[in-house]
Amino acid sequence: MESGSEKWNFQGNKKLNASAVSVRRVYNRLMEGINNNQDKKPVVRLCRVDPTDNPRFRTTPEAPDAVATAVHSYNFNSYPPTVGLPEAKRAIASHLSSDLPYQLSPENVFMTVGGTQAINIILPVLARPGANILLPRPGYPQYDSCATCCLLEVRYFDLLPHRGWEVDLDSLEALADDNTVAMVLINPSNPCGNVFTYQHLKRVAEIARKLGIFVISDEVYAHVTFGSNPFVPMGVFSSIVPVITIGSLSKRWLVPGWRTGWIATCDPHGIFLKTGVVKSIISYLEITSDPPTFLQAAIPEILDKTNDDFLSKNINMLRESANILYDLCKEIPCLSCPHKPEGAMAVLVEIKFSRIKDIIDDMDFCAKLAEEESVILLPGVTVGAKNWLRISFAVKTSDLVDGLSRLKAFCLRYSKMP
Ligand SMILES: Cc1ncc(COP(=O)(O)O)c(C=O)c1O
Repeated sequence: MESGSEKWNFQGNKKLNASAVSVRRVYNRLMEGINNNQDKKPVVRLCRVDPTDNPRFRTTPEAPDAVATAVHSYNFNSYPPTVGLPEAKRAIASHLSSDLPYQLSPENVFMTVGGTQAINIILPVLARPGANILLPRPGYPQYDSCATCCLLEVRYFDLLPHRGWEVDLDSLEALADDNTVAMVLINPSNPCGNVFTYQHLKRVAEIARKLGIFVISDEVYAHVTFGSNPFVPMGVFSSIVPVITIGSLSKRWLVPGWRTGWIATCDPHGIFLKTGVVKSIISYLEITSDPPTFLQAAIPEILDKTNDDFLSKNINMLRESANILYDLCKEIPCLSCPHKPEGAMAVLVEIKFSRIKDIIDDMDFCAKLAEEESVILLPGVTVGAKNWLRISFAVKTSDLVDGLSRLKAFCLRYSKMP
């Protein structure tokens, strides 16, 4: 590579740049637009899903107490064991088992640096030349970026907005071939805000079984539900098909900065052992970093002492925000929210371009909205939903109402006259 008169043998990995369709990158771009605006209004961020953006979302006091106890004990200053601290693994196995028809053992659990690292581990574990993975569209972009980095081919199955974001089961089946290794399901769903029913999950499990693939069930939002569908872990169907569950403290315990998550293998027939998947997970963990030892040490107490009042208070706040968002969206002429959010912390809203002028696409919409109204929304294209918007409602009610009223003013300005 030539640079002036100098010659260098190295350069940045372009594949990495192309694959990094990340929420953070888009967020930074939109913020630049705001910073260029001289007479800006206070910024309203409805873009990222970080519950700590709302000061009322504060973790249960038992959680920092448990962490402080672990730190002050001086017993957890060492490197953690490769697969995780045994007491943390035991506590998570027992926590997850309470929703399953059988008991997980600590050996089924591997500690990770948030749900993010769980994704970053599982995909390379599966990658082999020619292999492909089925991802939901819309979905969570970490899967796409990570698959690109480890040269795992991605095939998308659709989620259907007018059927409550259910999986298009026909397209799922049609996509797979002998090189398909796994599929991902996110439940409750970020970005769609739906919660899959027991019956639908069972159908997905049966199809996966028929295709000879396993299910990666992203349950980072486990139990964060406030509609009519209760949360059902995919592990309930692991006697039909082996399931890898991804979990995290980030959302339910409102501590995304603690970077503590896990992988759990729900596999009563031992298929992951037979196929070498467990061995590969351990091999990967041997060459990567781990969540801090003292955070792992705090997990048993956090899980044991978190009380129902804390959990239901948060669910009630999310329900209230979801209702506000859904009702206010109905008043905005060029937007449509096909499905009222009933889980997770964000929802997708469609931009009706037939009713809008002078805006090319969702990226342009969000850039103009940031510049003119200082409101940050996530362009749907980032999560595989071109010309949609992802709106987080895990924010202060006043921010949500203010942001949506500016969004409405913006849409009215750009709306086509009838
Ligand atoms: C669907 C989904 N999976 C995984 C993650 C990553 O989890 P964590 O924040 O614990 O790394 C997120 C975070 O927003 C998510 O929404």
